[in-house]
Amino acid sequence: MLRPWPLSLSERIDPARDTPVYIQIIEALIRDIERGRLTSGSYLPSSRELAKHLGVNRKTVVFAYEDLIAQGWLDSAGTRGTMVAAALPDPVKRRRVDVEPTMSNVEAGYRFAAPPARPIALPGGSGLKIDEGAPDGRLFPAELLARAYRGATHRAAGTSDFQYRDPRGAPALRDGIASMLRDQRGLSVTAENICITRGSQNGLFLAAQILVRPGDAVIVEALTYEPAVAAFRALGARIVPVGLDAGGIDIDAVEQACRRNTVRAVFVTPHHQFPTTVSLRPGRRLRLIELARLFGFAIIEDDYDHEFHFQSQPLLPLASYAPGEVIYVGSMSKLLLPALRIGYVAAPPAVIDAIAHRVSLTDGMGNALTEDAAAALIENGELRRHARKAWLVYAERRRNFAAELDQAFGAIVDYKMPDGGLAFWLRFPGVDLDAMEARATAMGLRFASSRSFMTQAQAPRGLRIGFASLNPFEARTALAGLREAAGH
Ligand SMILES: Cc1ncc(COP(=O)(O)O)c(C=O)c1O
Repeated sequence: MLRPWPLSLSERIDPARDTPVYIQIIEALIRDIERGRLTSGSYLPSSRELAKHLGVNRKTVVFAYEDLIAQGWLDSAGTRGTMVAAALPDPVKRRRVDVEPTMSNVEAGYRFAAPPARPIALPGGSGLKIDEGAPDGRLFPAELLARAYRGATHRAAGTSDFQYRDPRGAPALRDGIASMLRDQRGLSVTAENICITRGSQNGLFLAAQILVRPGDAVIVEALTYEPAVAAFRALGARIVPVGLDAGGIDIDAVEQACRRNTVRAVFVTPHHQFPTTVSLRPGRRLRLIELARLFGFAIIEDDYDHEFHFQSQPLLPLASYAPGEVIYVGSMSKLLLPALRIGYVAAPPAVIDAIAHRVSLTDGMGNALTEDAAAALIENGELRRHARKAWLVYAERRRNFAAELDQAFGAIVDYKMPDGGLAFWLRFPGVDLDAMEARATAMGLRFASSRSFMTQAQAPRGLRIGFASLNPFEARTALAGLREAAGH
């Protein structure tokens, strides 16, 4: 089996030394295994290849490999070659890679960072994964994506465009997103108002980075998107939670908080509140903008799943009528795929320039090839066609999920059919939610805990369950599992 890269041993083999060369090779390989450079299951180069690389006789390497197989360090995988043994001699297992850093200021330099209550991705495992509203990656035609990448690769190679580029992102994608935001979401923007980011998570972090200094207050809702809160915290923000209800964030509470604190930013998801799915009422939208003008804070509007709205005309984003007060953050994760990491920030050009400067400091620029491929999918209409198809599938799954919920839970569950987005917000008034979640986890269901949404202990608790990535069979299985965990 081919190694992707030729292997260099960490230690030099020196035929002039007293120790025989084959012993030197054995010792060097053992040390590389102990250090974790060579891991269980990884293939070694063929004896011919390693001998050539070291400038020694092939037989010498064969002896060394045979000896290491006899000692239990290596396994022969027949014609496929020789690999590092799956079960290594005992002490090695304990010593591998787990090196304590000696740079004692790692945590001190990063003193504001608390580990997130949950990682952005649910942990891997064999049980059923219930996300918080991800798209079904199986619906995206792989060939479309492959073709878009192929085209983008040829175009860039043909024009020698595989070079460092504008940190604001690929011009064609910024154009494509600006025109989508103008046509579909009422924003008055051009490419100059857009910076492409690595997912909207990156956009949220960069937006916060240009706004927040350590100690500044950032208002979030009592129930909200924890990875955004973790980003604000990591920048030293003081999180000020305020209540919310079926109409969205409590604006009176925002005003009171602004009178008590120097508030730099208010983080909201007005289109489909995360996690409760409700839309921010029109009157509250206007008042929030008035408060932004009065107190001089920025509204960070996270519009993470705008395109999937199932109920009549959606309300337009805050950014469409208050472009000077709002940093608008969007994502292609629901429309395309999360793993492509395409998000964007729409804001006045001065804000975009500040954000682009942060991009140039951290990753230099975006992934030009992915951005060009995504631009092509927008330009040739494939993305719109996919969106239409996915919308139909998700609309049906949403209906089906509600029917399955009623069937499985009856009166135990309290929910409202979401007008949009890819998830349901479920409340279980008579159920001990901690016990239910513990049982569900023990049964192998993987999902974000109700506590991960809460920034205030008295916030109303519930589960956010994505329906779009589950086909009807999976939806039934997931709900049956939760039902059993509820113990009713
Ligand atoms: C509320 C909210 N904001 C941001 C994101 C992050 O999306 P992205 O993949 O663009 O980083 C998500 C992901 O589901 C989300 O639910």
